[in-house]
Amino acid sequence: MTEQQKTQLIQHALEACKQSYSPYSDFCVGAALLAKDGRIFCGCNIENATYTPTICAERVALFTAVYNGAKAFEAIAVVGGPKGDCQQLCPPCGVCRQALREFCDDDFEVILGQENLQYKTYKLSELLPLSFSKNNLG
Ligand code: THU
Repeated sequence: MTEQQKTQLIQHALEACKQSYSPYSDFCVGAALLAKDGRIFCGCNIENATYTPTICAERVALFTAVYNGAKAFEAIAVVGGPKGDCQQLCPPCGVCRQALREFCDDDFEVILGQENLQYKTYKLSELLPLSFSKNNLG
């Protein structure tokens, strides 16, 4: 991916972050997932008064994509921070890493972005080493 493509994906994630429904943690997250067919699917975290039904931004983006027929992905940009102040890196939680693993290869890129458009990129294999996937089921 070019630097310009990464920046564009971060900008989508920053827009998505504005839709965050997070009255309990006040921590807003946005994600933008690039499908191999070029489409971009976005998500924000959505919390719940009973806490456990809360869903992360990454899974909202992923499940929206799958529902819309995309099942092969290139990269995801994630941004987040307290009160939507995205000045720190926001790494995906373990559940989201595993959810992404279902559809993404080892070289899938996870772009952790910030409001100033600076970022760090990791491969999914770095964030979820020795992962269990459908390959293990034989
Ligand atoms: N959150 C995400 O949306 N993505 C992550 O990768 C980390 C955490 C959300 C869940 C919850 O609404 C809030 O951030 C605080 O944990």
